[in-house]
Amino acid sequence: MQEALERIKKQCENLIKECQSAEIDELATHLSYGKMLRSKLLLSISGINEDSVNLCAIIELIQTASLLHDDVIDESSIRRGKPSINASFGNKNAIMLGDTLYSKAFYELTKFDTAIAQSVANAVVRLSIGEISDVRLSSSFNTDKNRYLQMCKDKTAALIVAAAECGALLKGLDAQKYRIYGENLGIAFQIVDDILDITQDSSILGKPNMSDFKEGKTTLPYIFLYEHLNDNDRQILLSYFAKELNDAQIQWLKTEMEKCGAITMSIEQVKKYASQSLESIKDENNQKLESIIMQMLKREF
Ligand code: FPP
Ligand code: MG
Repeated sequence: MQEALERIKKQCENLIKECQSAEIDELATHLSYGKMLRSKLLLSISGINEDSVNLCAIIELIQTASLLHDDVIDESSIRRGKPSINASFGNKNAIMLGDTLYSKAFYELTKFDTAIAQSVANAVVRLSIGEISDVRLSSSFNTDKNRYLQMCKDKTAALIVAAAECGALLKGLDAQKYRIYGENLGIAFQIVDDILDITQDSSILGKPNMSDFKEGKTTLPYIFLYEHLNDNDRQILLSYFAKELNDAQIQWLKTEMEKCGAITMSIEQVKKYASQSLESIKDENNQKLESIIMQMLKREF
């Protein structure tokens, strides 16, 4: 698998070079590709061949483009432990690099069957809708779990669903089962991310700890916390929303979460989505997909 992931990175670099721009080439040297979950997933379903490697490169370019734009929107200065492109080169460069990668990816997508092109294109629509809803939800403390979950389905799960579906389409398998697998994996993955933002320190996260709430993101543990606080403590929680907090205030949040079991309840949700994911592919006899779920559960809470 590791060798295939290296081939995908190389293919991404080749596609970027084909854009024939020294400026884009220079900016792209500052990119990093992360865990490549979507590629691992696609290859685990389709197997490794020229088509699947090329399709993974397209999906990684789209994922990278979306994060370039997301860092501008979130005003994030760190991505995967390194300065973000917007922090180093400004918003204009980050947006245009994102647009270039995104457009090149769509050009390459026209070389695939319509069903595959539609699956990826539709996912990018959902991704964008998810990002808008993330921005809207961040304007005030959100107490609605369903809105939060819908946002996770769009912003995070959609491209994971497309990767799973495309893997199945390439291999002639029942795409619906893999879509369900991908959606539940995607939601679980986002909740794990939300938990880690609270429980892990910045050296492991590659970005500051507790940054979600400061950015106005009321993630699942905060919704559980709100539900379990009395009126007085709810007012304290609301007053901390989207602010730079001091150590005592951060400690208050962590202690109250511990008291009401907000993290434990969130972990239960992760396990629920993980088991729904496994259920959908139980007859497919694919151990790689089972191990992707296990690895996600093993990320330290
Ligand atoms: C990260 O969320 C953001 C996404 C997963 C999707 C962003 C999507 C867009 C900007 C629209 C699509 C645009 C293009 C060009 C394809 P996060 O902020 O919760 O995660 P983070 O902590 O990693 O920043
Ligand atoms: Mg972000």
